[in-house]
This record gives sequence, C-alpha cells and structure tokens, in this order.
Amino acid sequence: TEIDIDAEDLDLGGHPHYMAKEIQEQPESVERIIRGRLDDRFGVARLDGLNLTPRELRGFARVKILGCGSAYYVGQIGATMIEELARIPADAEAASEFRYRNPIIEADTLYIAVSQSGETIDTAFAVEEIKRKGGRVVGLVNVVGSTIARACEGGVYLHAGPEIAVASTKALTNMAVGFALIALALGRVRDLSNADGQRIIDAIRALPGQIKSILDFEPEIAEHAKTVAAAKSLFFVGRVRGYPVAREGAQKFKEISYRHAEAYQTSELKHGPLALIDEELPTVAVVPRDELTERNLAAVQQIKARGGAVLAVTHEGVDFGELGVPRIVVPKTEPELDPILLTIPLQLLAYHAALTLGYDIDKPRNLAKSVTVE
Ligand code: G6P
Repeated sequence: TEIDIDAEDLDLGGHPHYMAKEIQEQPESVERIIRGRLDDRFGVARLDGLNLTPRELRGFARVKILGCGSAYYVGQIGATMIEELARIPADAEAASEFRYRNPIIEADTLYIAVSQSGETIDTAFAVEEIKRKGGRVVGLVNVVGSTIARACEGGVYLHAGPEIAVASTKALTNMAVGFALIALALGRVRDLSNADGQRIIDAIRALPGQIKSILDFEPEIAEHAKTVAAAKSLFFVGRVRGYPVAREGAQKFKEISYRHAEAYQTSELKHGPLALIDEELPTVAVVPRDELTERNLAAVQQIKARGGAVLAVTHEGVDFGELGVPRIVVPKTEPELDPILLTIPLQLLAYHAALTLGYDIDKPRNLAKSVTVE
C-alpha cells in the first residue's frame, strides 16, 4: 500500500533512528490529537467525526474494541478507560481472532476499530464483518483516507503524523489519548459529571508537558535498559490499568530486542509463574500510585524474596521501603489516564535495549509495519 509521506517526514532530523524521532515527537503529536476537541464549558470532548448524536451515544450498552498487535493492547487500555469513565462494559479483542470466530454482532454495541496504518487486513476484515451483520463501527485511525478509515461510519483521526519505525510509539500514545476522548464523550451522556469531565480535560491538557518531562529522563532509562538487555528472558507485570501497559511493554521489547518478554497480571504471579522467578529472570513491574499500590508492592516483595531483580515503573510517593528496587518515576495524572504516561518509559526501555544489543531498530526482522496480506 502507498502512503503519502513528505520529504520532511523522512528526514531523521538529527535522530539516529525513526523510532527515536517518533518517541521525541510525542509532546507535539499529543497536542495535535487534542487540538479543538476539548470543550471546557461542558467538560466533554467534541468528536464530530464520530457521526453519533448524543442519543445514539447514550444508546450503546457495550463497547467492543478491535485491533492487532500494539493497537490491540492499547485497545485494552481504552476499554478500561471507557468502563471507568462511562461505566459501560467494554473490552478489546485481537481483530485477527475476532474475524475467524463467527462473532456475535449486537445492535446496541459500539464497535471501535483501532489501527495506525488503517490497512491491517485482519482489522479491515473485522470491520467488514461487523458492517455486514448490521453493527455500528467507528475508527480510531492515523492514516487519513486509509482502507479502515473509509470503511468505518465515523471516527477519530489520530493526527500523529507519519510513523515510519515498525515499532509504533507516537501513534499508540495518540490512540490512548483518543480513547480518553471517546470515554469522555460516552461518559458525559451518562453519569460522568461536568466536574469530573473537567477533571479529565485538565489532565489531558497537561499530558504533553508531562511526556516531555519523561523524555528528559532518557539517559537514566538507557542505563536501566543496559541491565535488562543482559537477561535472556524477562517478565513485565501490571494489574488492572497497568496490565495492558505491561503487555505493550513486553511487545515492544520482543519486537526490537528479540528477547523473550512475557507479560503477566501481577495478581496471577502467585498462581503459577512465580515458580520461574530466580536470579536469571528480572521483572519490570508497573506500580502506579493508586488503590492497588499496596498489593503491587506485596508482589514485588515476593519476587525479591525469590532472588528476582525488579525494575519498577512507578510514581512519586510509592514507598518501596527496604526493597532496594531501581525505579523509573513517571509523573502522576488522573488515575484513569495513568496508562498513557506509564507506557512512555517502556518505549525508551525497549529502544535502548535494542540499541545496546545492536539490532536494526527501525526494521526488526520478520516484521512489517502493517500486515496487509493474508
Ligand atoms: C503489525 C506491526 C505492529 C502493529 C500491528 C497493527 O503487526 O508489526 O507493530 O501494532 O501491525 O498495525 P496497525 O497499523 O493496524 O496499527
């Protein structure tokens, strides 16, 4: 497939790789997706492109999100945001599975197709299947006029700008922000108050500055990456909001550093995988400051007690006490939006691990930027 890319977009602009460039562009690309879409007076997001009236928005009983690879993991972040802010049952599924299982399409479900390229064949096919069965499907897509964008009945463009590196970064961040906007729109026609909507809007507006401050910590994250790159295999763990963050972190790591990385719910460690923990298997643990902090710390303690090294991605104010855990500290936002920022250092961790190991960062072996054939 052809995409329109200007010469300027192909310019590395002094960065060693497109992935590095795209990571650095995130403060501006987030500005672009929110521009003109935040309505302060009513604490809501203005998403005219969805082509849904308030009454239609109000009528959905469920949300189903479909995407592949990282887009699927961000879909899981989005499902949690929608459940939390709009209190509608929401879940994400790999479009590659959905299309092959004769899915039940419901008239009162809002289907959301998520795709950077808009050309991923599994996702495009899922959209066609939903439409064929009379379902309502909107897109969260980056490439304007792409196959999926055209097939959907409405949507929210990501405006991330062209993304060249195979491992997606800025598009994923904009997908997560896009879900926050959709969750606001769905929430404000239900029980989310104007004040709560305003709280989320203020937090969304602060994201670009907060992302910038995470990027300032790149040298420290690069040091952590050298340590984790030395391991043959690692765990990424998180729970509830943190679990899709861990999945995406592991995915990035696998894609470009060719290291075995497995994501697990922190809560499930004790139900099996704890048996694997020893000095050889480090864990990257997502430990936000929220209602689950104490439980996450207890799990970190269990890993440490078995000789496992832990690197925490966490917030200021989380007390690791005597655990002796190296930390990447991420700025705090509203709890519902925490996953957006927690994901950013994991991009840098994967990038620097691959750099240390000397791999082809922008074009990892066996992978394509978008999989457009069966
Ligand atoms: C490919 C890429 C992944 C990407 C997925 C979905 O498998 O290797 O990095 O997440 O496609 O791409 P899309 O363009 O639909 O977001």
